[in-house]
Amino acid sequence: MGGSWFRVRQCLIICLTLFTFGILFHSYSTSQDTSFVSHPVAAPLVGEKSDLNITVVGRDDGSRRNSSASAHSLDKHSCNIPKLDINGKEVIDFFRKPSPLTCDKTSEKNWAYLDDEAKFTLIPEKAGAKCTAISFARINDNSLSRGQRIEISQGERLPSDFSTIRCNLEGKTWSGLMMNVVRLEKREEELKRAKRGEDWSGLDVYFLGFDSLSQMSFRRTLPKTVEFLENELGSVVLNGYNIVGDGTPQAFIPILTGSTEEELPLTRKRFKTAKYVDEAYPFVWKNFSQSGYITGYGEDAANIGTFTYRLKGFRDQPTDHYTRTFFQEAEKVHKDWKCVGSEPLHQSWLRYAKEFMDRYTIPRFLLMHYSILSHDDINLVGVMDDDLSSHLRLMAKKGALDNALVIVMADHGHRFAKLRETHQGQLEERLPFFSLALPKEFRESERGREAWANLKINKDRLTTPFDIHPTLLHILHWPADFKTEQDATNSRSLSLWQPIPQSRSCAQAGVAPHWCTCLNWQGAMASQEDTETSFAIARAIVKTINDETEKERKSCAPLALKEIHYSKKLVPNEGLMKYKNVKDADGFVPDLSGTTKTAFAHYQLKLATTPGRAIYEVTVLYHITEKRVEIDLAAISHPNAYGQDPHCIIDRNYFLASFCICYDRIGATD
Ligand SMILES: *[C@@H]1O[C@H](CO)[C@@H](O)[C@H](O)[C@H]1NC(C)=O
Ligand SMILES: *[C@@H]1O[C@H](CO)[C@@H](O)[C@H](O)[C@H]1NC(C)=O
Repeated sequence: MGGSWFRVRQCLIICLTLFTFGILFHSYSTSQDTSFVSHPVAAPLVGEKSDLNITVVGRDDGSRRNSSASAHSLDKHSCNIPKLDINGKEVIDFFRKPSPLTCDKTSEKNWAYLDDEAKFTLIPEKAGAKCTAISFARINDNSLSRGQRIEISQGERLPSDFSTIRCNLEGKTWSGLMMNVVRLEKREEELKRAKRGEDWSGLDVYFLGFDSLSQMSFRRTLPKTVEFLENELGSVVLNGYNIVGDGTPQAFIPILTGSTEEELPLTRKRFKTAKYVDEAYPFVWKNFSQSGYITGYGEDAANIGTFTYRLKGFRDQPTDHYTRTFFQEAEKVHKDWKCVGSEPLHQSWLRYAKEFMDRYTIPRFLLMHYSILSHDDINLVGVMDDDLSSHLRLMAKKGALDNALVIVMADHGHRFAKLRETHQGQLEERLPFFSLALPKEFRESERGREAWANLKINKDRLTTPFDIHPTLLHILHWPADFKTEQDATNSRSLSLWQPIPQSRSCAQAGVAPHWCTCLNWQGAMASQEDTETSFAIARAIVKTINDETEKERKSCAPLALKEIHYSKKLVPNEGLMKYKNVKDADGFVPDLSGTTKTAFAHYQLKLATTPGRAIYEVTVLYHITEKRVEIDLAAISHPNAYGQDPHCIIDRNYFLASFCICYDRIGATD
């Protein structure tokens, strides 16, 4: 008896608890849901004046532009990719044009250079100089061996990739370093014997990476390069490319292996048991080597190398050509790492990339990563825009890219504290530049056409470094099926050549919440502050509508806000805004004590006006600190039929039809 009463009481408690939770959960899920239930909230009587600043776009004046306020499709995706403003107020003041690099002012002019054919050439003033070269080669990632001193004269090729040059003329001497690609003939013969399947794409890979450039910053600092990529090469820029960790290794380890550092065997050099990265990681360039590709990996820095700074580095040279060896020496010789004597370092680096493509006719895989100008300074990389865009244009013109997948990308955005304190800075850090181009002939071919079409759709889907791994491997085994959507629940690595589901979430894609830039819809009528903002925006919308019909006031009645059916806002998740830095040396433990405030958000409102029965659904961009709302007239929809209400205007001005209630229709009930 006592036992059964206990059970009844227990049930009551549990049921009550479940009931309460049910209510709580219900309200939680509706406030998170995209299908907001209509609960009309009548407008307070404050008149139709708006205290917000209003920017109107999308007028029917023949000059429509695409604005960030045109957000009709925002809620159709599971991942709402933020659209950022390149001139975003919070961040734009950090950017300015850098002064040019002046290597030739701080260093004596180099006496010699390598010409387009990599032939040793003395500058005219030093034409009579006698020169020698000592080549140097890798022993391991920290030490070098040196060859014999040999004489080198005008027009000759250097005997190995890296050399120290010394010249004498009239009692004066000059010395400098040179890098070039010397063809490895034996290796080439070996690679020619490799077997490839019928499914081989036949493409080379030309992959240029840059340190610390968000998509927006890449566009700000390297506009000529972007112009070339988008308009001449036809590159596709991924808008939803979201980082999965903090720093360069966390970008490249997933790209090159498909895994994270934590999933792979330990390689952190401060641990005794650490392995070399090439012992522990299945680098994708090995797959390319096995398929007969000549390979190159070229970072522009040795001291802060991606796989050597915090990690143990490579036991063996990882690729056929490997620039670290050069920079081990260059960083000892040159105080200013930005220059090789009087020449900007990036010029040597770009020339090396060009020569790699020039020297070989067998399939080529090249990954270059550049950081010196961009990893400590958000503007300086701008000094290479002319050289980088000319380099790419030249490569394309001479046909070096005719058969190549060309990737130009950055590992992550800027990570400076001041930028991270801003809402836009948090998003930009997580959305680096990533562009891909297939050769024109290939993308128009039977094999390339559908892959190219898929890539163009995937550019607005959530993508990550994990996806680049299968995208690269597919170059070796080109997929046969371009129709079936990949299963995002089954794999976090999806190929960009095949359809990526729109519904893919950060969790499916392997993106931790504090890295995830996908925005969520949240109810905007819950707190008093939110409700006031929603009403202010609603009044701004009605004012905008009235301003549009003002010139037809004889026909169209001015409208007043009657009620809000719903208001919701699209905001970053909490972890992202709280992200401040990492707590540990390896960048795995996030410090979520930041206090970044949301600076802007898309709002979507459904509202009713009076007189008449018009209901409007509007998506606007609201700049919170500026109290400014961007309203795109073209993004105001009128979901209930307007019937005869605008009959007095519709023939004369169709655009105004959805905003006009003719006076004689006030009170109509049909
Ligand atoms: C606006 O966007 C549409 C669809 O994205 C595009 O087709 C159109 O070319 C764009 N117009 C301008 C002026 O950029
Ligand atoms: C790539 O190479 C690794 C070994 O490094 C191998 O396990 C893997 O199966 C290869 N992948 C493909 C697609 O060939």
